[in-house]
Amino acid sequence: MSAILEVRNLTKQFRGFTAVDNIDLHVEEGHIHALIGPNGAGKTTVFNLLTKFLPPTRGEILYRGKPITGMKANDIARLGLVRSFQISAVFAHMTALENVRVALQRKLGTSFHFWKSEKSLDHLNERALELLDEVGLREYADVLTVEMPYGRKRALEIATTLALEPTVMLLDEPTQGMGAEDVDRIVELIRRVAGGVQC
Ligand SMILES: Nc1ncnc2c1ncn2[C@@H]1O[C@H](COP(=O)(O)OP(=O)(O)OP(=O)(O)O)[C@@H](O)[C@H]1O
Ligand SMILES: [Mg+2]
Repeated sequence: MSAILEVRNLTKQFRGFTAVDNIDLHVEEGHIHALIGPNGAGKTTVFNLLTKFLPPTRGEILYRGKPITGMKANDIARLGLVRSFQISAVFAHMTALENVRVALQRKLGTSFHFWKSEKSLDHLNERALELLDEVGLREYADVLTVEMPYGRKRALEIATTLALEPTVMLLDEPTQGMGAEDVDRIVELIRRVAGGVQC
């Protein structure tokens, strides 16, 4: 069967210490997988390898059948292989809307569009509001991220990841440190953004 992401014999050693030992993955479009393991098992390292934050010691990564092992982090993100971080990666002193807008601008490839008409910025706002809606954060649009409840911040991270229009989303412990109610909301959100997928 055709995989969107395939990993073979992926290994990472840090000065002789093997953090990731010969893993194989086969991910098909529309499927949700969970990588589970105790603290220090190597989950974050796998994500770092897949998104090229770290070079692998050995192994091969294929995206839609093509080797991407030698590609740079930016190019990998442009292919649609997008990750979130275990530690919150949203800007605390921006509103929820501003955070999503920054992510949308990042997708466009430039950080500032001061020369563009107000109309195109309005369009960005519209899309940002849609994304906030998608993750249930419409009413937080004008709230500073630092003032948002923890669970909602994690949902905002998913919105900023979605802004990059990923084809594969790698979420590093998206429910870490959450209460049961927030966990349910995030699980439901992941199912919804994956669009009626099989787990
Ligand atoms: N840059 C690094 N240099 C040296 N060792 C590292 C480095 N990054 C990770 N490690 C080690 O690799 C192992 C795997 O760490 P990793 O962070 O991938 O685990 P994890 O499964 O994500 O754990 P957690 O559940 O705590 O997030 C750990 O023993 C860690 O100390
Ligand atoms: Mg980790």
